[in-house]
Amino acid sequence: MNQARTNQKRRSPIICRCNNVSEDTIKQAIVDGCDTLNKLFDATAAGVGPCGGSCRKVTGPLLEYYLKHKTFPTSAKDSSSNGAKGTTKK
Ligand code: FES
Repeated sequence: MNQARTNQKRRSPIICRCNNVSEDTIKQAIVDGCDTLNKLFDATAAGVGPCGGSCRKVTGPLLEYYLKHKTFPTSAKDSSSNGAKGTTKK
């Protein structure tokens, strides 16, 4: 077993760069009861930064996916790719 690898702390990707909000923070807020985007924005400060909310294109589909499936996609990008897992828009 590679002990160094198991001791590495996993970093959650940053979804909202304006306010430095990670994917894990957003997911936890959703699990804790944020069932609308406004509640999610109030709880995490994601989506209300100076860029005008460019992260909403990730937070919106992530919330929608959770409300529909009661689980999260394997990555935040999966929820915004129209169900085609592993693809990215260019
Ligand atoms: S990246 Fe989230 S508000 Fe700008």
